[in-house]
Amino acid sequence: MTVKKFLLLSTLSLLFIPAFGNGYTPRVTIIATGGTIAGIAPSSAGTFYDPAQLTVGALMEQVPEIRSKASITGIQLCNIASQHMTTEIWIRLASVIDSLFSNDLCDGIVVTHGTDTMEETAFFLNLVVPHDKPVVLTGSMRPSNALGADGPANLYNAVCLAASPAARDKGVMAVMNDYIFAAAEFTKTHTVNPHAFESPGRGPLGIIRGGIPVFFRDPGPMHTVHSEFSIKHLHGTDLPPVGIVLSYAGASAVPVEALIASGVEGIVVAGVGHGNYSLEIEAAIPGIIARGVLIVRATRILCGGVASDVESPFEGQLTSGLLSPQKVRILLMVALTRYRDPDNLQRIIDGYQ
Ligand code: DGL
Repeated sequence: MTVKKFLLLSTLSLLFIPAFGNGYTPRVTIIATGGTIAGIAPSSAGTFYDPAQLTVGALMEQVPEIRSKASITGIQLCNIASQHMTTEIWIRLASVIDSLFSNDLCDGIVVTHGTDTMEETAFFLNLVVPHDKPVVLTGSMRPSNALGADGPANLYNAVCLAASPAARDKGVMAVMNDYIFAAAEFTKTHTVNPHAFESPGRGPLGIIRGGIPVFFRDPGPMHTVHSEFSIKHLHGTDLPPVGIVLSYAGASAVPVEALIASGVEGIVVAGVGHGNYSLEIEAAIPGIIARGVLIVRATRILCGGVASDVESPFEGQLTSGLLSPQKVRILLMVALTRYRDPDNLQRIIDGYQ
């Protein structure tokens, strides 16, 4: 089934057109992918639950208040726990978003998503969705039927933000626990608490309470419609493989060699401190670079990133800037679809912070 036909059928199947007075009613499409927000627990007071159980229609029925904010359409793209997210799903998701906006089928999009890889999906979309209309990711830390379930409020806030003219040209955003985050900046910082996300060292883009967004600042300029990359050029293309290796006291270089043997085109090293490696990994880097594999020097530390004036030796390596290892990996995969020379690749990394 083509993306366009899938969209048309989905649009017809779950269209809610609320009764509104005069004035324009924003059209918001909710694309569901799974996660805890769609999770069901055997006991509302328990901690065990199954993620990715409810469909987009059930999520929408849990929050009837969204119909007072927008004309809502629902699409079920997949239903997975987000630790199982893949680049194939990313490309499908970005293609559906591009088609919705290119055919003027909505004014804003909410993507419901697991929180484990929400930051990665948001950052990929931030690089390749060539539109300035709002794309807002949200999810939850507690399943849909838990005491204190946070999903309904997060979904309400995400719909309100996606329907807001103030959200245009802000890049892809995430809304969790009343905070608005920029795709390039936020990361999961708590495994179970509803306040599970931060933008370390930079802070949230803004807050949203009762559906009213208040922005403190803008995100970095290189995103979505301003990006030099687009999903229109990635259809059906597997992204070049890039792996991540963690450094720690006494870290072996075996994972580095294993990644090279698997055929990666780049390796991101999540170093200690300001991007420093164990002796074994450090000793392996020159040989890796000599074999034409790109190395990005990143850090496992949440704040400060890795600048090019790091401690030696760093000859021939790219540096991550403020991007986390998991995000600079995504940027390198996308950038490798257009560039292979280190100068352009470092220019891209420095620009897309
Ligand atoms: N399995 C995790 C995921 O889907 C649950 C976390 C969540 O969605 O909050 O990301």
